[in-house]
Amino acid sequence: MVNRILTLAVTSLMAVGIFAGGAIAASEGQFPADWKKWDSLSTTLTKIGALPGCEANVSTLPPIYQETVATYCAVRQGGPGKVAVLVNPASKAGYEARKGKFKDGSNLILHLQDMKVLFVTSHKGGKAQYGIFTEDGKDISAASGPLAIETCKTCHTGYAAFCVDGQCGKISK
Ligand code: HEC
Repeated sequence: MVNRILTLAVTSLMAVGIFAGGAIAASEGQFPADWKKWDSLSTTLTKIGALPGCEANVSTLPPIYQETVATYCAVRQGGPGKVAVLVNPASKAGYEARKGKFKDGSNLILHLQDMKVLFVTSHKGGKAQYGIFTEDGKDISAASGPLAIETCKTCHTGYAAFCVDGQCGKISK
């Protein structure tokens, strides 16, 4: 009996270990099923129009944009391509104000249109969370690399001058 309990305890500890070790990758927040009804915004990046391939000269862009290109230029031949920024209509004023404090739930999308992929920023208790989905809602986040949730977090929290509560872009007309 004691032996069985011990085995059980060890097995559950191992399961926890695998989980904490990041072997299971999962997007945070919910897939926003109504994303097609969200508002499209004009930002610094959408004015550039696309995320280019690795050969592009982006030396005149701010460092956070250079790092974004370096991170994603190789996910597809020629780069990720056309992009759109979408905002939950309820959070549009918040995006324009750039003061953070988004309501709980999914709020912002970077739509990689050519790749048919949605980068989704949601909030929970005011804290930004990140998810990566196909257009029809399949979670495609990875354990490491450009499509890891940690990668989103590192950049979106690492550039304090650019990103407020998970929002890195700004309206650009
Ligand atoms: C190396 C930096 C970097 C990484 C990594 C990164 N982003 Fe971003 N992200 C940016 C920048 C810069 C913008 C602003 C682009 C613009 O001008 O519209 C942005 C914009 C966005 C937007 C549009 C709303 C906004 O203005 O913030 C969403 C949503 C988003 N990112 C989600 C993600 C997710 C999810 C991941 C991880 C898969 C991710 N990002 C990884 C730099 C990064």
